[in-house]
Amino acid sequence: MSKPVPITFIEVDTSTIADAQGRVAIIVDPEGRMDVAARRINRLTKGALARLIEAKGAAAKVAEAHVISFPVGMSAEALDVVFLSRRASALEARKAGVSLGRVRGTSDVLLCAGGHRKASEIALGVALRDYAFENHKSDADRSGGAVQVMVSKPAEVAAAAEPALAVAEGVFFTRDLVNEPANVLTTTEFAKRLKDMETLGLEVEVLEEDALQALGMGALLSVGEGSVSPSKVVVMTWNGGAKDSQPLALVGKGVVFDTGGISLKPAAGMEDMTMDMGGAGVVSGVMRAIALRKAKANVVGLVGLVENMPSGSATRPGDVVTSMKGDTIEVINTDAEGRLVLCDVLHYAQERFNPAGIVDLATLTGAVIIGLGHENAGVFSNDTKFCNAFLNAAEGEGEGAWRLPLGKGYADQLKSRIADLKNVGGRPAGSITAAEFLHRFIKDDMPWIHLDIAGVASVKSDTAYAPKGATGWGVLALNRLIADRYETE
Ligand code: BES
Ligand code: MN
Ligand code: ZN
Repeated sequence: MSKPVPITFIEVDTSTIADAQGRVAIIVDPEGRMDVAARRINRLTKGALARLIEAKGAAAKVAEAHVISFPVGMSAEALDVVFLSRRASALEARKAGVSLGRVRGTSDVLLCAGGHRKASEIALGVALRDYAFENHKSDADRSGGAVQVMVSKPAEVAAAAEPALAVAEGVFFTRDLVNEPANVLTTTEFAKRLKDMETLGLEVEVLEEDALQALGMGALLSVGEGSVSPSKVVVMTWNGGAKDSQPLALVGKGVVFDTGGISLKPAAGMEDMTMDMGGAGVVSGVMRAIALRKAKANVVGLVGLVENMPSGSATRPGDVVTSMKGDTIEVINTDAEGRLVLCDVLHYAQERFNPAGIVDLATLTGAVIIGLGHENAGVFSNDTKFCNAFLNAAEGEGEGAWRLPLGKGYADQLKSRIADLKNVGGRPAGSITAAEFLHRFIKDDMPWIHLDIAGVASVKSDTAYAPKGATGWGVLALNRLIADRYETE
């Protein structure tokens, strides 16, 4: 799997700058005085740094990087100058790191951050942006390179950066899963990669089809009927909190490929449906992150892994299936499969764990992309306090999230003539009727948030933290929600 570039923190020693190989990066306050490292670099480069600050500093955008190639007086191949105020916010500092992560390639980096108070955030930004999915490039070589950050209090900064870099590894895990093609990431391979996380101290249990049958998960099982890959539910448990405290439950849609089933999708763009396990990918990345940083919280992650294929054994439009809860569902459109997967996993999560709250994530509807584009995930909730805690966490981490309404009128669109409900509510408010479908499977008084991440899980242009492709959206926000709300210390 892709791992973030190794980052270490070292004492300020300006004597090493002249001979440093790879890239040298320097953080400069466009309006402040040069620190010792900047003064050294300025001397080595015969004043180039001062001239750059003079020419570009005043008009520099926050966290903007300027690259000076093969700087005179230095062994480095490039000098990256990043303008960042001493009083920069955490997100601005992260952005400065992103600028550096974007240009690193496979080189070593000596990053001179001096006494910047947000040095750990700069490091996180470097780590998050320095990602490439090259599992299937035969000429790929990302083996090289490490980042050394020169700071005035290395032990302190390293301690602050350690949990953040664990979260970056969780984000990478999510991106790898989401980027992986469906012939590689089958339900079986997905479950195996999760099972491998037992070495991190997670409990990982894989429920196979016979177990799902015995539990009565007829809705989930109906989706995988046409595929040769067996449907599975994987339960990941992290017990880092107090013994008797109820866990937070995270539930993810893991459709490893969504052809639409018998209600087949059009050919154009169908290849993108390899990312339809994005919700499960985020749940998996969060579980990895909290295990790596040994979070003092109880969290259980459940993912429903299925493949939605057309075949002679596939579920037909018009079929009626029975969910674990007991509600019967008329399958009007086999392409509205995510909700069929989630309703059973949501019910199971509540029955088995009686969680303190549930967050589900799913690439659920194309309609949410029409409404919110690729900037914000759709947020739905039956509990405003819980919802606001999530929205605050997302805002604090720079991940777009926007609340949309629920309501009985929308739920009424799901009435079926022959069963308890049907799986589509028509074109109007498609994301909301999908959310209302899930809502029906949430017990009264159970705090619940549904995140429709169809627009943000994988995108076609670079985002704040990621190159195009899988973003890992949500890992940072959920990690922060857990840290803020569920951790004791
Ligand atoms: N996986 C799709 C939603 C999706 C669309 C995700 C685009 C990412 C990008 C989902 O299973 C789906 O097909 N939804 C249908 C629902 C409809 C049939 C009610 C949709 O949005 O068209
Ligand atoms: Mn679908
Ligand atoms: Zn889908």
